Amino acid sequence: MINDKLPKMWYGGDYNPEQWDEKVWEEDDRMFKLAGIDVATINVFSWALNQPDENTYDFAWLDETMDRLDRNGVKVCLATSTAAHPAWMARKYPDILRVDYDGRKRKFGGRHNSCPNSEAYRKYAHIMAGKLAERYKDHPALLIWHVSNEYGGYCYCDNCAAAFRTWLQERYGTLDAVNKAWNTRFWGHTFYDWEDIVVPNALSEEWGGNRTNFQGISLDYRRFQSDSLLECYKLEHDELKKRTPDIPVTTNLMGFYPELNYFDWAKEMDVVSWDNYPSLDTPVSYTSMTHDLMRGLKSGQPFMLMEQTPSQQNWQAYNALKRPGVMRLWSYQAVAHGADTVMFFQLRRSIGACEKYHGAVIEHVGHENTRVFRECAELGRELQELGDRILDSRVHAKVAIMYDWENRWALELSSGPSVALNYVDEIHKYYDALYQQNIGVDVISVEEDLSSYDLVIAPVMYMVKPGFSKRVEEFVARGGKFVTTFFSGIVNENDIVTLGGYPGELRNVLGIWAEEIDALYPGQFNEMVLTQDLGELHGGYPCGILCDVIHAETAEVLAEYSSDFYKGTPVLTRNQFGEGQAYYVASSPDSEFLKGFLGHLCAEKGITPILETPAGVEVSERVKNDISYLFVLNHNADEVIVHVGDESQTELLTGQKISGEVTISGHGVMILERAV
Ligand code: GLA
Ligand code: ZN
Repeated sequence: MINDKLPKMWYGGDYNPEQWDEKVWEEDDRMFKLAGIDVATINVFSWALNQPDENTYDFAWLDETMDRLDRNGVKVCLATSTAAHPAWMARKYPDILRVDYDGRKRKFGGRHNSCPNSEAYRKYAHIMAGKLAERYKDHPALLIWHVSNEYGGYCYCDNCAAAFRTWLQERYGTLDAVNKAWNTRFWGHTFYDWEDIVVPNALSEEWGGNRTNFQGISLDYRRFQSDSLLECYKLEHDELKKRTPDIPVTTNLMGFYPELNYFDWAKEMDVVSWDNYPSLDTPVSYTSMTHDLMRGLKSGQPFMLMEQTPSQQNWQAYNALKRPGVMRLWSYQAVAHGADTVMFFQLRRSIGACEKYHGAVIEHVGHENTRVFRECAELGRELQELGDRILDSRVHAKVAIMYDWENRWALELSSGPSVALNYVDEIHKYYDALYQQNIGVDVISVEEDLSSYDLVIAPVMYMVKPGFSKRVEEFVARGGKFVTTFFSGIVNENDIVTLGGYPGELRNVLGIWAEEIDALYPGQFNEMVLTQDLGELHGGYPCGILCDVIHAETAEVLAEYSSDFYKGTPVLTRNQFGEGQAYYVASSPDSEFLKGFLGHLCAEKGITPILETPAGVEVSERVKNDISYLFVLNHNADEVIVHVGDESQTELLTGQKISGEVTISGHGVMILERAV
């Protein structure tokens, strides 16, 4: 349990009473009760209020808010307020202001705006965390710490440049080693002095955000900035832990957010939390995949849904309303994938500045007679009734998909072979093929223990880090199935090519080598023609983006290209390796192929769908104490019939016993409880 002070699915969200007066607070108390809200995230952006100048700290409003919430049975997710620095701090300590990608020194404004290597920022953030912990350590409402908010963005200032050089000295020891790691003889970039190393941005090696002349320095700068922000988090985290060792600490993450290596971050977090803001047209499987990644950050431990909108965002191009039932449906989708909280941004809609059109539990009209409030209150009631039943239950997947931030950086920075290659989209294609069949998946790091999996898929594993290929070999030798794709095994952790034929270190387990890599234009396809039926698959399937021209060594050819000069050469191979098999998919196939292919591999391993359902009905399972909780989520607007099996089981949201064919309403949810 995240904190047994509140032994139920936490329900609440971001709350900014400092923007309102007392009259409104009374209304808040009343309406929170009506909505079943029991957690408020407060103090997220109140640094300016708490510390009006260098030596003054004033927590009167926070004392009052903590006490008031406590009196009303609302626990507190207490933020440390350091996500936006006060104006006086920027005036007095300009080093706190970031320098942007174009080399411009920022002025005061925005948020998430502090240079992570600014001495003033670190000092005052750190003091603030200590003061808050000291002040509220015994407060009965304190449930969890929320450090800063959505860490992100990079800085390119001189302090960062100096800290980067130190970071490089620690990583490489000598300048010679840096020159070698980055291959700086290319274009005559040899560094003679540490001072020669400047930050890679639009003033030096990079352009367009993700284009670079030197992958080595750009890659290391991403690692360094992720580490720098993580150090800021750790400074606060340690201050909090010193005084409140039993209160969990988190910071809210952002799913597949590109800039931070969350696998590193999660190691420093007691519980992962994240903010889920899909658009109405985001594939629901993409959201599921992101939940699975958030669960995978801490090897399956339940996570927090820290923020979602009850109705609409303000920052997308088209901020569609969540249709009736969709907020509830997507809340349970998070729970189905491992969330133990359902929380919103925001509880009350603000009246000024850029988030006044962001949805909230309490809308501008101010009363409870709104669709959004009614839906929130209904969900609040359901979560109260569920109590602690589902808390701490786990997802037991036999299939894992690997995702790696450093691999992503390297791929995005790689100059070639195609701008059309999008790593996360490739991951999603594989994920979606399993999702469509209700086969549970863990999204894991390249360092995760593989022993509990039967099938491990590592799409576009371009960067192979030390020790990785050996672990894959061990996994396959013991009987596992491993799948990787085109453009894998190309470089080491510094984006330096592994010589001797692609896929480099993975060549042994895969039993192939790739001689050339062709890039296809948009709308251009080749075809994968099977040499034998594979489960339901036979004949040809289109493929595109990249086509590796490969040679089978010890591998068996399962499909060949149907056209172009490499017609008849292998595009899909299987290599028997010890007790298991390693597959190479040399191009990017369509969804029909992937569904059949992965379905077939699962069937060979005895992995079957959790439940067979009509299209658009998602199923995910959590298990605790030999009881299975099966979430059946109807993403269709219309009702459908689902066969839930012949045994009688309890549907938790209605309390009814059901079996056989049941109707589930449009956007409806069922939670089936049964013995494992
Ligand atoms: C993020 C932030 C919140 C708020 C919401 C709006 O998730 O953490 O402060 O700005 O976005 O969607
Ligand atoms: Zn900086």
